[in-house]
Amino acid sequence: MRDGGDLTRGLRLLCRLEEIPDGGARGFPAPPGGFTGLFAIRRGGRVFAYVNSCPHIGLPLEPVPDRFLDRKREMIVCSAHGARFRVEDGECVSGPCMGDALEAVPVTLLEGAVYVPEDAGR
Ligand code: FES
Repeated sequence: MRDGGDLTRGLRLLCRLEEIPDGGARGFPAPPGGFTGLFAIRRGGRVFAYVNSCPHIGLPLEPVPDRFLDRKREMIVCSAHGARFRVEDGECVSGPCMGDALEAVPVTLLEGAVYVPEDAGR
C-alpha cells in the first residue's frame, strides 16, 4: 500500500492542476513567513513554476493578478521594463536582464495536484 504522506513530505500543495488554465498562468502568495510568491504556467499536463521576482531588480512580474504571459501566451513578460523569458527554463531572451534567468521551482505532480518544496518562494 502506498503512503501518500511520504510522497508529499517536504512539499507544499500549490493547487489542483485544473486550477491553472491550460496554456495560461497563475500567481501564488509567498510561503508562511515569506514575502515573495510564486507563479506557475501550465502546458497540458506539464507545469513550470518560478519565484515571482524579476532578475533585473527583483520586482514581481505581473501588472495585474495572474498576467505573466504575453498576448500570444508564448513568453513570460515582466511588466516593469519588458524583459521576456522562456516558459520552459525561465531564461531571459530580451530586455535588461538578458542572459539571466528566473529562479525555477521544482514541481511535483501527484494525483492531479501540484506541489512545490515547502520553502519555495522567499
Ligand atoms: S524589473 Fe523586470 S525588467 Fe525590470
